[in-house]
Amino acid sequence: MAVLVTGGAGYIGSHTAVALHDAGYKVVIVDNFVNSSPKAIEAVRALTSPGLAFVEADLLDSGAVRQLFAQHQIDEVIHFAAHKAVGESADQPLRYYRNNLGSTLGLVEAMAEHGVTKLVFSSSCTVYGQPATVPVTEAAPTGAESPYGWTKYMSEQILRDAAAVSDLDVVLLRYFNPVGAHESGTIGEDPNGIPNNLVPYVMQVAIGRLEKLRVFGDDYDTPDGTAIRDYIHVVDLAEGHVAALAALASMDGCPAVNLGTGVGSTVLDVVNAAADAVGSPIPHEIVERRLGDIEKIYADAALARDLLGWETRRDLTEMMRDHWNWQRKNPQGFAT
Ligand code: UFG
Repeated sequence: MAVLVTGGAGYIGSHTAVALHDAGYKVVIVDNFVNSSPKAIEAVRALTSPGLAFVEADLLDSGAVRQLFAQHQIDEVIHFAAHKAVGESADQPLRYYRNNLGSTLGLVEAMAEHGVTKLVFSSSCTVYGQPATVPVTEAAPTGAESPYGWTKYMSEQILRDAAAVSDLDVVLLRYFNPVGAHESGTIGEDPNGIPNNLVPYVMQVAIGRLEKLRVFGDDYDTPDGTAIRDYIHVVDLAEGHVAALAALASMDGCPAVNLGTGVGSTVLDVVNAAADAVGSPIPHEIVERRLGDIEKIYADAALARDLLGWETRRDLTEMMRDHWNWQRKNPQGFAT
């Protein structure tokens, strides 16, 4: 089976391309490098096959997308490609709506034209906002608090509507907080500029690129007062996509499925686990809460287990070990 991986040069896409190869799939990657590096493709090729198919194209270019389907055998699609920065999306909403919705629409249209009916879509636990109860199940109410979040919410709806009236079968994967890296340390997260997310920030402090972490708030209703998230090893997450593709073979409709560990960790849990991995303390200070932050979210992971036969295997210690291994080997990311 051949799988088209859109955004396959990105953090989750590159790890998923490797996991698909390891599971025996043929992989075709499409990416426009708007927020990723050609070096990621080289690294994926080194971990998989020199013959791995790669097409540089923008999914908004419908001619290029049609050509892609015409020139490559594609049986199934995993759609990662999207803009993903919450803050940037508030400043540039139209750019986010055009890119994230336009690319999804164009992709699904091209799939229909070419008789491709299986799709795994990258969604996010951001659609839950602050859930009323945790762990959060897929039945919890959804919405969004940023244009980025709305693009995920709206894409889910577009795909549900399309699946209801066509042969299209879709799994909507709602990711929690991916961290870590492939054990080789040759692919990993490489944020542009100063990282917004916790673990990339912590690791850049550890490597000496940033001076100290600011912990946003210690007055939340949690054991140590810092906010809780469900951090998931990116390789577990990648394997969740392989499981979703396998499940799609005998699945109809358009279920949404949480991909998380079911375990919540505080910011200070992460800081301490990172310090253990690095072997020295992570300088940090407590500052004000970050605007719009959620106090507490982690997944109910039961549906993923039941529907996909998948569960996570790697804990916070392994996440920090592997993220640090990537950072240590690539202090400047792919530009190293
Ligand atoms: N944090 C800090 N200091 C930092 C960065 C983060 O204390 O420098 C804290 C945050 O306040 C939060 C936790 O670390 O409590 C995790 O923050 P992240 O920014 O890493 O992750 P979020 O869960 O806030 O956001 C992520 C993605 C979004 C996505 C959201 C879904 O970045 O794209 O999950 O809930 F929408």
